[in-house]
Amino acid sequence: MNTSSQVREEIDAATALLSEASVPVDSAVVIDFGSQTAQLIVRRIREANVYAELLPHDVDYETVKKLQPKGIILSGGPVSIYEQGAPQLPDWVIESGLPVLGICYGMQALAHTLGGKVAGADHKEFGPARIRRTSDHPLFRDLPDETDVWMNHGDRIEELPPGWETLASSDNSPYAAMGSERHLAVQFHPEVAHTPLGRVILRNFLYDICGCTGNWSSESFIDATINDIRQRVGDERVLLALSGGVDSSVAAALIHRAIGDQLTPVFVNNGLLREGEPETVQEVFGRHFGMNLVYVDATESFLRRLAGVTDPEQKRKIIGDEFIRVFERAAVEQSGTKPFQFLAQGTLYPDVIESKTADNKAADKIKTHHNVGGLPEDLAFDLIEPLRFLFKDEVREVGRLLGLPPEIVDRQPFPGPGLAVRLLGEITAEDLAILRRADAIVRQEIEAAGLARDIWQFFAVLLPVQSTGVMGDARTYAKACAIRAITSEDAMTADWARLPYDLLARMSARITNEVRGINRVVYDITSKPPGTIEWE
Ligand code: XMP
Repeated sequence: MNTSSQVREEIDAATALLSEASVPVDSAVVIDFGSQTAQLIVRRIREANVYAELLPHDVDYETVKKLQPKGIILSGGPVSIYEQGAPQLPDWVIESGLPVLGICYGMQALAHTLGGKVAGADHKEFGPARIRRTSDHPLFRDLPDETDVWMNHGDRIEELPPGWETLASSDNSPYAAMGSERHLAVQFHPEVAHTPLGRVILRNFLYDICGCTGNWSSESFIDATINDIRQRVGDERVLLALSGGVDSSVAAALIHRAIGDQLTPVFVNNGLLREGEPETVQEVFGRHFGMNLVYVDATESFLRRLAGVTDPEQKRKIIGDEFIRVFERAAVEQSGTKPFQFLAQGTLYPDVIESKTADNKAADKIKTHHNVGGLPEDLAFDLIEPLRFLFKDEVREVGRLLGLPPEIVDRQPFPGPGLAVRLLGEITAEDLAILRRADAIVRQEIEAAGLARDIWQFFAVLLPVQSTGVMGDARTYAKACAIRAITSEDAMTADWARLPYDLLARMSARITNEVRGINRVVYDITSKPPGTIEWE
């Protein structure tokens, strides 16, 4: 277990690394023409240890220059370059003199600008294809002569721009890859998993053509961010709402490493948490990291306000309101003689780009869903969002490097309103205790079966339904519990997990035997859509 002096030593060690952090990291920009896979391109580039950001196609060059990119990648897009209003290649792309890689629509935009001819193909090409290389251009270094790729296009190149050569062709695309020394273009999608060697192609572009060295990593991110936080915060104080979820936990660990006790994390127990959660958070952040954790047990005030409420949206609203009230009170109490200047939030990159790219660019607004939205204006803070350029898996990696335990960094999503949306109907302390026990059994059994990592979310739901049962010689009339376990990529769609029968049997037997108040267990076999993941 860490002591405060160990934490101090870690902070000093981090300081010593700062000189390295001042070496600028190599970066690339991805220009978003609206493809579904534009974010994926950014992730692949970062996996190659090059920092990348996704920027809207009408971004101004001043913004781009701040990133000092070594290369530009143009994403795919849903329209045809000849359609009215189709986004065109910004002038600065060619004028910058930087290497460019166009992907699909990005390729057409590049070729069209440089004097090539793009036309609708007789056969649109969606799905797998095989390309044969026709050149030994460094873009294809370490690739075999033939390789599988994923195509998804209607238009194709009919005539190359002057000075370009063909680099690879497929049966349906004579110019599946093409380019000159520094302007390159591929008809297929190297960023998707169905192009197995796509990563090699992206890497070749970044390393061999752009001259990147691959000096961006979670470690370099931590060092640079610690430096930034220290410069920005100076000797001011930072307040953070710690939920115990991945994002706020990693933000807390990072900021604490930067400024130690100038950070005050506030953890509100709303009485709607899962079994063991308040204890884990206090153990990890209070005792292990030695943070000045403010633990507020507001169970009573939340349950008082929720009494008699059955409408799910009303529950959510009350919980949101009460959270703000409790958090605000804690902030005022903790201010002492030196009020907080900053509020830290665990905003992630997908939230930032979703609101910034292409069509809804005007709404340059961070979603407040997971954050402390709605704080009153007189409690005005400057925001610190140290994770706003990271994807979730990068945040987890940073958390691991900062010493957060697996129960925090690998934690599955848990809704802000907590068990209130898994306890259908009215919320009482008694039913919460029943749900908590049943939920703990579901978690224990799925973890013991080694399936926790394959399943996106798994939990118990307590239903406002009573049914007859028999226990020993007596009849029972008790509640039913549903088990929900789903697989998903992003929670937008989901399928019910095909759990083994014997695992379901174990969970059912344990719940009905160990949890007084439940005499029936059902398994939810609804996908999303049409169901949602949560029951309320
Ligand atoms: P649904 O139930 O809409 O859930 O399929 C999709 C994802 O969102 C989570 N969820 C919430 N998260 N506040 C949150 O912070 C909420 O009110 C909320 N409702 C659902 C859910 O757990 C799943 O991961």
